[in-house]
Amino acid sequence: MASPAAHTFILGSEGQLGSELRLALRERMDPSLLLCTDLKAGADAGLARFETLDILDFKAVEDLMERHKPRHVYLLAAMLSAKGEANPGAAWKLNMDGLISVLDLSLRFGVERVFWPSSIAVFGPESPRDPAVQAGYMDPKTVYGISKLSGELWCRYYHNVHGLDVRSLRYPGIISWRTLPGGGTTDYAVDIFHQALARQHYTCFLEEGSRLPMMYIDDAIRGTLELMDAPAAQIRCRTSYNLGAMDFSPGELAAEIRQRIPSFTIQYEPDFRQAIANQWPMRVDDRQARQDWGWSPRFDLAATCDTMLEALRRVQ
Ligand code: SER
Repeated sequence: MASPAAHTFILGSEGQLGSELRLALRERMDPSLLLCTDLKAGADAGLARFETLDILDFKAVEDLMERHKPRHVYLLAAMLSAKGEANPGAAWKLNMDGLISVLDLSLRFGVERVFWPSSIAVFGPESPRDPAVQAGYMDPKTVYGISKLSGELWCRYYHNVHGLDVRSLRYPGIISWRTLPGGGTTDYAVDIFHQALARQHYTCFLEEGSRLPMMYIDDAIRGTLELMDAPAAQIRCRTSYNLGAMDFSPGELAAEIRQRIPSFTIQYEPDFRQAIANQWPMRVDDRQARQDWGWSPRFDLAATCDTMLEALRRVQ
């Protein structure tokens, strides 16, 4: 018997966010109606229907959309900041062409809601950094940030001009244990836990005092689903919402880990990613997300450390 048409897509399902979103969506829907796609299957691809898909292959995306006519689409395929600086043309193409194809096809095939992630990378050196305000001056200097800010404006354009219900969050650095992030400036806050357990030592590519906004993955996924569940009238921001949870520096994170692993040591060898971090906010003002659809984070730094170390000890 042919499989039923899937009504929810995760495009880019095998990365840090997609792999966790798949687990959360499986809990709330018939898993046979969830279709995940990526360039190649990851370790957990078997947990839902999976198809190999290059988001830049317009014909293949069109064919998939035509076959399923999904109601909800989560577009998570993207290149992050550090990798993007090493491959500017490819980052722009993936982050921009992928988004515009999916927006066009969503309109054509009647998708009800689209989710697309933005980032704290939309802010730049002249933007207010402490905190970054929801709507202020933005001057991203990385290709990743430029693609995210442009993408936000495209999302608003498709909403305002075509009535497409696109929703977006500006994620801070995401901390998770199941899947590694793929080439971002905030990746140190994940690597450090792996190294703390494996060798009780970490060489950090950011300076000791480099403060950035961060979030534990469970908050990021819950925030995403709450945003997608909210009635359309509550979504007053059609670019992308600031989303906050906690902020810390590598030094503060190391001190928190040392409380749990007393032999842990850290040294600092900042590289090109320091220049990226220097342009990003230290904190974000997320009052609009709190007011419009009730955002409230649950994980602080201590809870994040406890949860990360416990989970990684279990799986290592
Ligand atoms: N975590 C991302 C990065 O570092 C920020 O969106 O690129």
